[in-house]
Order: sequence, then structure tokens, then C-alpha cells
Amino acid sequence: MNPVQLRTVRNLAPRGLKVFLRADLNVPLSGGKVADDGRIRAAAPTVRWLVERGARVAICSHLGRPDGAVVDALRMGPVAARLGELLGQQVRALPDCVGDTVAQEVNHLEPREALLLENVRFRPEEEENDSGFARKLAAPFDVFVNDAFATAHRAHASTVGVARFLPAYAGFLMEREVEVLSGIRENPRRPYHILVGGKKAKDKLGVLTDLLPRVDGFLIGGGVAFTFLAAQGHKIGRSVVDLDLVGTIQDLMRRAEERGVMIVVPVDVVVARELAKDAERRIVPVEEIPAGWMGLDIGPATVERFAEVLQGAGTVVWAGPMGAFEVPPFAQGTAAVAQALVGSEAFTVVGGGETGEAVEKLGLADRFGYVSTGGGATLGFLRGESMPALEPLRAA
Ligand code: 3PG
Ligand code: MG
Repeated sequence: MNPVQLRTVRNLAPRGLKVFLRADLNVPLSGGKVADDGRIRAAAPTVRWLVERGARVAICSHLGRPDGAVVDALRMGPVAARLGELLGQQVRALPDCVGDTVAQEVNHLEPREALLLENVRFRPEEEENDSGFARKLAAPFDVFVNDAFATAHRAHASTVGVARFLPAYAGFLMEREVEVLSGIRENPRRPYHILVGGKKAKDKLGVLTDLLPRVDGFLIGGGVAFTFLAAQGHKIGRSVVDLDLVGTIQDLMRRAEERGVMIVVPVDVVVARELAKDAERRIVPVEEIPAGWMGLDIGPATVERFAEVLQGAGTVVWAGPMGAFEVPPFAQGTAAVAQALVGSEAFTVVGGGETGEAVEKLGLADRFGYVSTGGGATLGFLRGESMPALEPLRAA
């Protein structure tokens, strides 16, 4: 695959220009506040750079999956407030993302001012990549800057469609993500291991299948592991599982063996009767998961095994927590694996919102080689999937 060369904002003289800046400010909210501002902090440098050079900036993002309808809990207000704090200047949230009022507001922007458009997924035309809607989004502006790497795997009106109507440039976050992840995709330091966790076995399995020819090993934890254990014939009690995938996993394991790609699954797990912080819990070998109990974390012997492999790795990409990290007694596997990673010589990359949040909470984010803002986009990029939003940004 060719390395991706992007036309970036560095090629732009932004003074006075009205900029449509697509960012991925899709952050978790809790009680009407931003619960993890990682993506907002990651987007801030491009906004700051444009504003300092006298641009007039309107930022556009989606938040959650409102499916084309207005959902009050997914309005951009709290995000605008946090972005304003980070920039040290007011960022007003508008009640819409297209239309006359928006056009007026944009026309009245002074150089160095920034505002935030309303959640673009309140409009069904966004995900349909509707051309008329893209034209409306673009109408008030002079240029399109795309900094939304985490949404680069989606061909939507605000990520792809607008580029038909405006000259398009990549922001600094987009540039950095593509640069770091291209390095891994094209020329990883070996051995190259993928550490996966999280709950959605189906999503992860597609990724593993595509990555198989590119990697040296997979380490499987989190909810995903129980579908692997089931595929190996273990009884897994009431653990999360997707039995439809068993055949595909058996096939993957066979092909991995043929290629000499190692697949490491848990040897022990933490089980409980329910996912609750005061639930009775036990550590059991995977051969002895009791009926009626569910696996909620990897066990200490598994941590040791994973740590041993990670110690000798050249590159590790980590996507998905090792257990039910949000409930403290089941966070130990994730915390221990994070420690093993920051202690290894490998180039360590964290991908995925939840994993990023976990390392942030553990206070370890700075000690990883790179924390990507993307989840699906990061894995998609590494597996060589086409990234529609990068196409209009390619340097000619
Ligand atoms: C993400 O969090 O994965 C990105 O913001 C893209 O969101 P989506 O998965 O809802 O398209
Ligand atoms: Mg996603």
C-alpha cells in the first residue's frame, strides 16, 4: 500500500477565510458534562492554529448515534463549553448545522472567532452522504478542513460530500494519525502483536481476519475471549458470547497456525454471578467456569502470559479493555496489561475510545507510544480498509 500523502492546512493562508472544520468531538457525556475530553484536546491544536492566523472557524461534529433525529441529550452544548475552556476563548454552540441562521452567524464571525455547529447527525442526510445536504453544509464557507480521523472510515456528507464544493485540507490531528498508523501498517517493528478486548466479538473478528497476514500474534482478552474459548470447546457459563462466530474463529485459528501467527487466549478468568461491584467473585482456570457464572476479567495467570509476550514485542496495538473495566473489581486485568505495555520496549499504540479512556483513567496515557483518537477508524486503517474521508485530502 502506498503511504498516504495529505494536503494539509500548512498549505493554507487562513487569514479572513471562513473555514468549515470537521472534527470528531464524539466524546462520552455524563450528567450533561463531557466525561472524557481526549478527543476535544486532540482537536484543539488545529482550531488554535486557524484562529491564531485570523481564520473565521465553524466546527462541525457528530455526537453519538441520534439516527437522523434531534436528541436533546446529544446536543453539542457541553462540548462547546469544554472546547472554549481549552482554547481560552468563547466557542458558541449554534442550534443547527445548516440554513440561513447558520449562514448569518458565519458571515458575522470576526477573524479569530470560532463557533460549533449543532450535531450533524441530527440530519438523516448526513449519513446518507446526500449531495444537496453537503452543498448546504458547504454554502457559507471558503474552505473545508478535515481533522476527524476517528470518522475517516465513514463516507458522510460532512466528511466526504462537502469536499465536492470546497477545497479540502487535512488538519494536524488527521496528519499525525495517518503518519503514525501508516508507519505501523507499512513497516511495523516486529514482532507485531494485536491485543484485543472489548465486547463486540463480531466487529473484532473481521479486523483479526484482515490483519492475519500482517501480524505475528493476537492476544485475546475482554468479552471477545469467551467466544474464542467457546470455539475451543470450553464451557463458558453465562459469559458474553456470539455462537454464530464459532466456525469463523475455528477457521481463523487454523489459518493462524498455518501461517505461524500466534493466538493467545486466556488460561484463567475472573468470574461472578453478576456484573456488580459487590458480587461474589472467583478466579478459575478456563476449564472450570461454573455454570450460571459469567467471566468478567482475565485472571492473573493470563496477565502473566500476556506480559511475557508483550515484553518481547516490537509493536503492540491495543484495542479494547481486558474486562468489565467500568466496575472496579473487574478492572485489574486491564490495569495490569496497561502496566505491562508501558514497561515493554515495544512501540505501543492505543486505539479505541474505551481503551483510551481506560489508560487516561489509569494515568498512563503519556507513557504509551501513541494514543489514537480512532476506534473503528484506527483498526480499519491498519487492516488496509479504504478510508473514504482521506481521498479528497490526498496531495495531488
Ligand atoms: C467513533 O467513535 O467510532 C467515531 O466517532 C465514529 O462514530 P460511529 O462509529 O458512530 O460512526
Ligand atoms: Mg465507532
